[in-house]
Amino acid sequence: MENLILAIESSCDETAASVIRNGRIILSNIINSQIDIHSVYGGVVPEIAARNHVENIAQVVDLALKKADVSVNELSAVAVTNGPGLVGPLLVGVSYAKALSIAAKKPLIAVNHMHGHISANYLIDNEGDIEINPPFLCLVVSGGHTNIIIAEDYDKYRILARTRDDAAGEAFDKIARAIGLGYPGGPKIDKIARLGNENAIIFPRAKVSGSEYDFSFSGLKSAVLNYINSREMKNEEINVPDVAASFQKAAVDALSHNCIRIALKHNLGTFALAGGVAANTKLRNTLKELCLQNGIRFKCPSMLLCTDNAAMIGAAAYHKFLKKDFADMSLNAVPNLEL
Ligand code: KG4
Ligand code: ZN
Repeated sequence: MENLILAIESSCDETAASVIRNGRIILSNIINSQIDIHSVYGGVVPEIAARNHVENIAQVVDLALKKADVSVNELSAVAVTNGPGLVGPLLVGVSYAKALSIAAKKPLIAVNHMHGHISANYLIDNEGDIEINPPFLCLVVSGGHTNIIIAEDYDKYRILARTRDDAAGEAFDKIARAIGLGYPGGPKIDKIARLGNENAIIFPRAKVSGSEYDFSFSGLKSAVLNYINSREMKNEEINVPDVAASFQKAAVDALSHNCIRIALKHNLGTFALAGGVAANTKLRNTLKELCLQNGIRFKCPSMLLCTDNAAMIGAAAYHKFLKKDFADMSLNAVPNLEL
């Protein structure tokens, strides 16, 4: 029987809703981004984000249903992100999903946002997209996470490596701010780095003691900030594209180096990418090339499915639906929900 899940995502500054058929097919994927509102402040203001979610959510959900040409009655379930994320924004999605689930008499499914990012890899978005199933290895890189995990099953993950300090996305955002690119930093560094020389400045690659595969980005971040400060003190201009490209190269080298070593050790055949930083052009190209050279199948969601969206939440929810892993009306937002 056809399975149709309406998924809602509101953990940060995107109000998103999507209808997913049978866990893989995207019937609609509506994303209302608040980037323009928050960029004035240099980052996401949680209260403003929550208020905008309240204003937008009904329209976003209605549009997702309309675009998919699916009525509420036809749905198999309503899914929602309940963490991790900002508590106010999360609560808007959770409350809306609970109300819809009870009014429409449809089961409610709670999805961990990070499980959603990983599950974006199950979606068939473009013709020729390869279909992957667990087990596989995955680099999960977002604004709050930098992990290499094994997806042992659709809802079972084991962490093999983590960051000791900043997440990769956080480093992109901080460096972007320091070189005057503003918020959101990742896509801006990605774009301007194309105009720069990535070998102009050699920034350090961190060595993490005690673990072979863990990451650290605070040393790289300090090195870039020190470089900028020392230039400013000498009244010398910095070349923004060169700094962006050299930082990006150091960050991507650090990420991909560990990924390939772990992939060769665990030999699961498939390596996937997930999370907002997975939208980074250099990271995608570098890992794709390294996987090709080493005979590893590489999977990466389309750029739109790497950053926050609700389609990925629907993909994760499908496997919970099959297991009848439903939430009840006591469901709450959990801002620090673990991977
Ligand atoms: O997954 P995401 O949209 O939200 C979280 O769950 O955190 O990730 C957001 C992060 C931000 O740090 C943003 O700067 C980064 O992903 N990001 C990028 C790119 N697009 C988004 N970083 C590097 N290159 C990009 N193209
Ligand atoms: Zn995210």
